[in-house]
Amino acid sequence: MTSSSHTPSAPSSGGAISGRALFPHKHLLGIGGMAPWQIQCLLDEAEQWVDLNRSKTKHDDRLMGMTQINAFFENSTRTLLSFEIAGKRLGADVVNMQVAQSSTKKGETLIDTAVTLNAMRADLIVIRHQHSGAVQLIADKVDCPVLNAGDGRHEHPTQALLDALTIRRRKGRIDGLRVAICGDVLHSRVARSNILCLTAMGAEVRLIGPPTLLPEGMEQLGVQSFTNFDKGIAGAHVVMMLRLQTERMEGGFIPSLKEYHALYGLNRERLALAETDALVMHPGPMNRGVEITSDIADDPACSAITEQVEMGVAVRMACLDVLTRGRRGVEGWA
Ligand code: NCD
Repeated sequence: MTSSSHTPSAPSSGGAISGRALFPHKHLLGIGGMAPWQIQCLLDEAEQWVDLNRSKTKHDDRLMGMTQINAFFENSTRTLLSFEIAGKRLGADVVNMQVAQSSTKKGETLIDTAVTLNAMRADLIVIRHQHSGAVQLIADKVDCPVLNAGDGRHEHPTQALLDALTIRRRKGRIDGLRVAICGDVLHSRVARSNILCLTAMGAEVRLIGPPTLLPEGMEQLGVQSFTNFDKGIAGAHVVMMLRLQTERMEGGFIPSLKEYHALYGLNRERLALAETDALVMHPGPMNRGVEITSDIADDPACSAITEQVEMGVAVRMACLDVLTRGRRGVEGWA
């Protein structure tokens, strides 16, 4: 099934996806600020790219002549590769800025970097940065669409979109599903974007983690928090595990990895408390034996982890396409 039973309505023209009015954002900085029908628009657009990516040719030239700069100030494997492949499959000239060798290491400010990228007449800039809000700062300084590939603990919108697409394709819907997001919620931009995306699409979201890794005030986002894993996972249709982001931790958030695994690691016994056909997800990279056991992560009957990676390319192709329609002069797009 390719479309959700939850059907958020677009203003006016009955849900057809054309015209700037139907996707009114210049940038993709976060799920926050996006209406449910806008999320659905991107998911629907991504479906065609899943099909293309499974075909022999894997090529479309709609971004031909456009320059996409991927500027990653933080490490990444799948997100960077996925944006690079997405841009290339659409025919763009894709350049990856090597931050380790760039002038930011010589003290250049983020704004000067943004102005430099802009002067090179980029048509799309994809940014990952360790500071929340850095991507917005760059978006304010450049003329072209900016896509957030993860900023600090703030947002990672394309991850939430690829997760939503994976869920929608595997479960046939998002609306009404119980989704448990488990682990280091405090440091996770993936969790934040997923909470915003999944609640907007009508899912019931639960957060599970030790008290030190659950942010306060989450009920304001319409989610329930559980410190007891077994209670939180009971009856879940989707179990989304998060990596322990030790690189963002200052001080002792958990007593030890062994103890964390004993209390919050996903194993067969715990998974048995969820719905019988519960879907297991993880954005990667995984800490096997810490937040998830290998037998679950590698079991295609329950794990959608490699499918998430596949959906990532399709979702990013959809975002690159939709955000450049105005620049490409696609009829009806401002
Ligand atoms: C996530 C990230 O970087 O926020 N990974 C990803 O994009 N696939 C999650 C993580 O690093 O744990």
